[in-house]
Amino acid sequence: MKQTFPDGFYWGAATASYQVEGGIENTDWAEAAREGRVPECGIACDHYHHYQEDFALAESLGHTAHRFSVEWARIEPREGEFDPAAIEHYRQVLTELRSRNLRPFITLWHFTLPDWFAKRGGFECTDAPQLFARYCAYVVGELHDLCEEFSTMNEPNVFASNGWLRGTWPPFKRFTLTDRVSITNSGRQYEAAPERGLRPLLLYFRVLRHLAQAHNEAYRVIKVVAPAVSVSVVKHVIVFDANWNPFNKIKAWIANYYWTKKFMQRTYRSCDSIGLNYYFYTQFGDKRTWKKTDMDWNFAPGHIYDALRMLQPYGKPLFVSEAGLADADDSDRAEYITAQVKAVHQAIADGIEVQGHMYWSLLDNYEWALGFDKRFGLIAVDFQTQKRTVRPSAYVYKKICESNAVVE
Ligand code: BGC
Repeated sequence: MKQTFPDGFYWGAATASYQVEGGIENTDWAEAAREGRVPECGIACDHYHHYQEDFALAESLGHTAHRFSVEWARIEPREGEFDPAAIEHYRQVLTELRSRNLRPFITLWHFTLPDWFAKRGGFECTDAPQLFARYCAYVVGELHDLCEEFSTMNEPNVFASNGWLRGTWPPFKRFTLTDRVSITNSGRQYEAAPERGLRPLLLYFRVLRHLAQAHNEAYRVIKVVAPAVSVSVVKHVIVFDANWNPFNKIKAWIANYYWTKKFMQRTYRSCDSIGLNYYFYTQFGDKRTWKKTDMDWNFAPGHIYDALRMLQPYGKPLFVSEAGLADADDSDRAEYITAQVKAVHQAIADGIEVQGHMYWSLLDNYEWALGFDKRFGLIAVDFQTQKRTVRPSAYVYKKICESNAVVE
């Protein structure tokens, strides 16, 4: 059976500046790499210089949209000083995308902080929302003639939990009890020593509060400089489910509340749409043995349906801003993508408004504290030679993109 998507549904893939561009040395992550706390990123995919070639490949693979992020540290290298050369680069990137009919989606901030901002306390500081909003308004003011879709931030809950509870990402604060509940793999080998007491937990909640304020303030000031653009937040949704056990059902409710609902309740009024990043399904009380991806995550593409359902109550159009898997030998990617896309189709059929689908990722890239080994790309990258090779699964996705449909 052929399952066709609505007219105008867009298809593509996503990347993020620090993970692909290369040559970004003035961030908290670059500093952490110099201290030996996370792997070096170096020139990564050198996408900063290869973007034309990469977008040509995306176009040849049937994509009609592309999500990428701009690097805050390039644009505002010192507090309050904006670099016109950085803006010019991203204007060229946007022009290239548009010339290939790839609709651009910009994420204004994807995890890495300019070193000046990190050193003054980052999102722990009470004035962080204003500083963030000023940066966002500047960028949108400079780019909105070339781009209509802006996300303020990527995955606030992942940023805060890895940085303040698990201690795997800058600023490496770790809360003792986190190990017991941790289900994801973000780079265990680099974990900081746990701190005594509740301090990291309290800071974690403070950072999340400031992130919500930062999004809301950014929305407000963006609408002053460019009222017509669409502004979203990109939310990582973990689907916490439960077996029959009522105690597990309560656990799942609490986990979903703290991971997804709380942040969305604070920010949805300042969203024109919401981006979904989906990677995890987990069930309390689950006795099944799951097939795993290379990240050791459950192979559960169909549960993107539940993630979309979880965002539906906020009453905004949704788009899949990221979803995908690490699969170095490409043996499972085509099956995963097909199942994921079918589940998105089912969600639309059941009345959920989903406008597009962007696979993570276009290219193999720097997978944060795990370095370069995890291969998420539709396109393989040889990090020594910078040679790109399209993986077979990319052609399965191409068929879906070009026909705007998936065939059962
Ligand atoms: C992030 C990406 C990351 C991907 C795979 C998402 O949480 O936005 O930066 O590479 O997941 O782990």
